[in-house]
Amino acid sequence: MASDASNSPLAVSQPVAALLTRAAIFLTLTLKPGDEPRDTVRAFCADLSSIYRAVDFRDTEGGLSCVMGFGSEAWDRLFGEPRPSELHPFREIRAGKRHAVSTAGDLFFHVRAKRIDLCFELVTQIMCRLEGAATPVDEVHGFRYFDTRDLLGFVDGTENPRGEEAVKAVLIGNEDPVFAGGSYVIVQKYAHNLDAWNTLSTELQERIIGRKKQSDIELDDSVKPTSAHNALTTIVENGEEQKILRDNMPFGRPGHGEFGTYFIGYSRSPRTTEQMLENMFVGRPPGNYDRLLDFSTALTGSLFFVPSATFMDGVGDSGESAGGSKVETAAPESATPAGPGEGSLKIGSLKGDSSDE
Ligand code: HEM
Repeated sequence: MASDASNSPLAVSQPVAALLTRAAIFLTLTLKPGDEPRDTVRAFCADLSSIYRAVDFRDTEGGLSCVMGFGSEAWDRLFGEPRPSELHPFREIRAGKRHAVSTAGDLFFHVRAKRIDLCFELVTQIMCRLEGAATPVDEVHGFRYFDTRDLLGFVDGTENPRGEEAVKAVLIGNEDPVFAGGSYVIVQKYAHNLDAWNTLSTELQERIIGRKKQSDIELDDSVKPTSAHNALTTIVENGEEQKILRDNMPFGRPGHGEFGTYFIGYSRSPRTTEQMLENMFVGRPPGNYDRLLDFSTALTGSLFFVPSATFMDGVGDSGESAGGSKVETAAPESATPAGPGEGSLKIGSLKGDSSDE
């Protein structure tokens, strides 16, 4: 737990940059109507760090972390004003046969650990508290697959920003001072058509992803198509590359022919990830789309705001409930993003180091 986080001039972030665990659970819930569910969730926010500590302490080497996010409408119901400046519902994209669907989601949990049982226990405890207030609409148990590969066989996560670069990419700074230390997260659950994918030659697959399959080395620009996945997801603004932080996880049920990738991307502005999606689905230029989507279907799509841990700890401290009325929060006016440290939800290292042992 961060010492004296609530008295600190700096907001302590939730552990958005806790990278590379062996297991993760992605849980999306909708908030039930009425005052009681809202009050239950508000009380829960302030207690989440202590629920987390109770589970984490059972294996302090387990690398357990928990991030909680809020959808746009849920934010208004739970917290009212002020609201994060770029929070809005996920915008669907339709282009040809490709469809980035927008699906329901008020509350989102990203629970990571070296062991699935720790994730399982924390989610169980979370649901004990939220039962009656929220309805699960999607739950995915992800696992790390050989060499951090996705189920298409490619190493996934290589070009993630690390250390200070990751902090800069994901944590809100002075552009929205009340919510400094917060982050935006976009999630999509993709189902892959592996039978069709596996009919492609390795060379063709490599040209779709933009990297060598075995060695993970990036294809040279002279051979990499402009439609390659890693070309379309490279965004440069004013000469500077705009990065997001991904922690995709494979999931599936081989017995049911289900093979998927749970995409999760954190960023300090949702615009970056949205631009990547536009490039992938519509194409850059239009029509020059990501061929990964010929073999992958987005089944869900949601955008959440991840407030700082300082904000979470302070929910319910003061102010009336949401719905337009004023709610004071613990987020300090002039907060700046937290650096590496131990947040109440285990901010952990922001150095981008692996903890998957
Ligand atoms: C079907 C789901 C997806 C799969 C299987 C997938 C897989 C991959 C793989 C294998 C790489 C190359 C290795 C790496 O740098 O991580 C990659 C890179 C990347 N992906 Fe995805 N991805 C998926 C969806 C997405 C989505 C929806 C976005 C953003 C909206 C995205 C953003 C990126 C970015 C930013 C890179 C790094 C590009 C670079 O700087 O080289 N990916 N992805």
